[in-house]
Amino acid sequence: MESGPESGLSGAPFGCFDRAGAGRHSPAMAILKIARMGHPVLARKAEPVKNPADPGIQNLIASMIETMIDANGAGLAAPQVHVPLRLVVFQAPESRSDTLSEEERFDHTAPLTVLINPEIEILGPETEGGWEGCLSVPGLRGFVERPNHIRYRGLDQNGQPVSRVARGFHARVVQHECDHLDGILYPRRMNDLSQLIFESEVRHWLKAESE
Ligand code: NI
Repeated sequence: MESGPESGLSGAPFGCFDRAGAGRHSPAMAILKIARMGHPVLARKAEPVKNPADPGIQNLIASMIETMIDANGAGLAAPQVHVPLRLVVFQAPESRSDTLSEEERFDHTAPLTVLINPEIEILGPETEGGWEGCLSVPGLRGFVERPNHIRYRGLDQNGQPVSRVARGFHARVVQHECDHLDGILYPRRMNDLSQLIFESEVRHWLKAESE
C-alpha cells in the first residue's frame, strides 16, 4: 500500500483516467496510491459527487475497488486516493471473529457496497468498542467506541438510492469510511490513546489483556 504507482488523480476529481473510449460499462482500472496521515487531502471536507454517471467517477469507483482489494482493506474513501469527493467503497460482513490478527486476510466474499454522497443516522444510544485499522494509518490499530446501530443512505454506482440499517462491524466500517469524507481519521475518535498500538505489538497487548 505504500509503494503503489503515482496516480494522476491529485487535484483532478473529475475526468480522471481520461482514456479514450472508457465508458461506464468499461471503466479503466488502476491500483491507486493511498494517502497517508499528514496529507492535507485526508484532513479536509470532501465535496459531493455531482454526477455518478460521469465516466471519471465510474473509473474512480473501479480503481478504488481494485485498490481496496489489493491493499486488503475493508473499505476505502475517495480522499484516501487523493480525490476529495464524497464517495466510499466497502465490504462489510456483519461481524468478523478476530479483528486483531496480523495474518488476517479480509473476507472479500462479503457484499461490496459503493456509496456516493452518504449520510448516516444514528438509530440508538448503544455504543460498542472495537479495534480499527486504516490504510492511511499503516501499521497501527486503535480501539474506538462508536454507535453500533445506524442507518445509512446514499446513491449506489448506478445513481440509485441506497438505504440500509447496519449494526456491529458493518456499522463501524461505514462510520469509519464516512468520517474520511469529513477529514476525520479514527485516532480522533479514540477516548484513550494508550489503546493506539502497532500491529506488530498486538500479541503483547492480547497477552496483557488475558492475564
Ligand atoms: Ni480509513
